[in-house]
Amino acid sequence: MAESVSFDARGEIALIKIENPPVNALSQAVRSGLAAAICRGEQDTRIKAMVLIGGERGFSAGADIREFGEPPRQPLLLDVIDVIERSSKPVIAAIQGTALGGGLEVALGCHFRIASPDAVMGLPEVKLGLLPGAGGTQRLPRLIGVSAALEMIVEGTVVSAQRALVLGLVDELAPGGLEAHALDFARGIVASGKPVRRVSMLDCEPSDQSVFEAYVETVERKRRGYIAPLRCIAAVRAATELPFKKGLERERAMFLELAASPQSKAQRHAFLSERAAAKIPDMRAKTAIGTLPIDLVGVVGAGTMGTGIAMCFANAGVPVMLVEANADNLERGMALVRKNYARTMARGGLSQAEMDKRVALIRPSVSNDQLAQADLVIEAVFEELEVKQKVFRMLDQICKPGAILASNTSYLNIDLIADATARPEYVLGMHFFSPANVMPLLENVRGARTLPQVCATAMKIGKLIGKTPVMVRVCDGFVGNRMLAKRTRESYFMLEEGATPQQIDKVLYDFGFPMGPFAMSDLAGVDVGWLNRQSRLANLTSRERACDILDQIHALGRFGQKTGAGFYRYDADRHRSVDPEIEALIVNHSKKRNIERRQISDVEILERCLYPMINEGAKLLEEGIVDRPGDIDVVWLKGYGFPAFLGGPLFYADQIGLPVVYEALLKYQVVHGDQYWKPAALLENMVRSGKRFYT
Ligand code: 3HC
Ligand code: NAI
Repeated sequence: MAESVSFDARGEIALIKIENPPVNALSQAVRSGLAAAICRGEQDTRIKAMVLIGGERGFSAGADIREFGEPPRQPLLLDVIDVIERSSKPVIAAIQGTALGGGLEVALGCHFRIASPDAVMGLPEVKLGLLPGAGGTQRLPRLIGVSAALEMIVEGTVVSAQRALVLGLVDELAPGGLEAHALDFARGIVASGKPVRRVSMLDCEPSDQSVFEAYVETVERKRRGYIAPLRCIAAVRAATELPFKKGLERERAMFLELAASPQSKAQRHAFLSERAAAKIPDMRAKTAIGTLPIDLVGVVGAGTMGTGIAMCFANAGVPVMLVEANADNLERGMALVRKNYARTMARGGLSQAEMDKRVALIRPSVSNDQLAQADLVIEAVFEELEVKQKVFRMLDQICKPGAILASNTSYLNIDLIADATARPEYVLGMHFFSPANVMPLLENVRGARTLPQVCATAMKIGKLIGKTPVMVRVCDGFVGNRMLAKRTRESYFMLEEGATPQQIDKVLYDFGFPMGPFAMSDLAGVDVGWLNRQSRLANLTSRERACDILDQIHALGRFGQKTGAGFYRYDADRHRSVDPEIEALIVNHSKKRNIERRQISDVEILERCLYPMINEGAKLLEEGIVDRPGDIDVVWLKGYGFPAFLGGPLFYADQIGLPVVYEALLKYQVVHGDQYWKPAALLENMVRSGKRFYT
């Protein structure tokens, strides 16, 4: 028997333990070990029942994601689960930690399930562009009903042990030690002579077809472009229409189709890149690097970002001092915090007690002295170098030695900000995205002198507050905004050359972004974009400066959704409509600039938006701003709504072929006669040597 599964006879009960760190993934060794253990239990006449349990870190996180893409290796999980379910002796799953994907499918193959109160369970395969492929779509609806199963399978929702008990997914909770409880439970089953319950033998409740149709409609709206959720619905539907075995065959066929699909490859790439991004390559070898304790956080500036950042820490149970220069702004900031929590509470996402607890963790103040005890201070004041340097000078004076000083700057040079202090090695960027309490990305920016320990702490704290942290180095706009600027520039140029905001937005929406650049600008605020443009005017080229459509819209007081008008017009419910006034403004602008408007194709729009971003991504790698292409993809997936089913800009570039991108860049370089289109040396080299971003 493989070592990753142990068999221990405890009297008449066999304790079968999966031990495959870190997450008990069901690798080939585990699968064969499990099948062998069950057979051994069957054959051993002293054994009357078996308990299946996971190690320290949990029951199992499911199929080994790293095995996908390779030819399937025997035994298949499906067959192992069949062996478990067919066992004549009762098999009890004892679930602690996580039982996810194939892990939960193994538990569903057992005859009884008990769980520790802090366990969580789910079938999140859909998030990897898959469906549960080891009987989950056929067994779960038989056990907990079609509606609950649809929610868990189509949305990949993870449920708590308490909820699992209510749903009938587990038979009992084990508040004390799980192992002892499970052994007692098994002895009880043996003593009672209770027959084994095979989930596959249960009838699946018939379901009204409208349930499936409603789900399809929701998925097409909410998960636009994704194939897997639709296949998940079809598989659950099969459970209601077909006998178990036939349903299983249908599930298997769709699983194999999805596993081989480009979408699933892209989503698995996204999953693994996110995990890789959490590790900083040049620090991995230095095992001695620890992290600094962060028990109290300070946030300076209670504006849009500061309030959201404070909420992130309060949500994680970390006390936070919110310090503002302006008392009215502080009051407004706290009112915003309360309003946001109240909204979550109204949606049922938070109890009154939890809301009160979180609000109480945010301590507002107009006195900087309050920051003296903070272990980490995050500055979120106006985006001006001098203002930020002044704040950092003050922080350096007030904060205790060893406290980390971070800036939420969107563009500014962290090294210049660090210069204002006598502790540059404790200074770094922690770039949150708006709204900070919602957006998952955290771009951590290490300065030239930032200590490894400080970097490691920022990564750890990012994970603690539920963010996806990515470590980057200093450059203008870091990874995300630097690449975004390329897309923005071309979007405006195309407006003056003949396109409309709605045409450009539609092309990017159809590509899979939640919205295009102009709808985005209206949401974020035309005034915010305008301020940013003003602060950067000196760095703009003459054409960029002359292309002042944003300035003209700003001058009309059209600040976007909040004023009912921006690039579009908005009704009271914030529904968007095209505004002829804006079209006239753009046409007039082209005329003034003597640019003859022409029909711009959707293909050109897509290429001019995406290819300069890919080119910039290559430059970021070339300059060492990031260590891996995956870091760039994660930034775009988590911070800018790049569709996960395309895997991020660089993964996408590999799929369409780097020579295609390269040739298009050269083509636009000729058309526009502009060095801006010159392919990055790295891209050129990769094309010449037939390489890709990902080997
Ligand atoms: N297979 C292989 N490796 C896995 C894995 C899996 N299913 N799940 C996690 N890992 C690896 C991660 O890549 C990471 O490796 P690394 O240290 O080398 O980077 C390590 O385990 C730890 O993972 P996390 O950093 O994510 O640890 P957390 O403690 O934050 O989270 C978790 C643990 C909740 C289990 C999370 O890893 C997770 O959600 N995993 C994926 C679960 C999943 O999607 N399961 C379905 C798999 S598909 C399937 O089962 C198909 C079946 O239906 C046939
Ligand atoms: P904001 O204008 O909403 O808030 C700034 C707040 O800082 C104001 O309330 C102001 O009174 C306060 N402030 C100014 N000087 C101060 C001082 N010396 N001490 C204490 N408080 C002071 O600005 P916003 O949008 O929150 O931006 C803050 C920072 O976050 C900027 O660097 C910005 O570039 C960055 N950022 C902004 C994003 C956004 O979408 N708004 C996204 C990511 C980063």
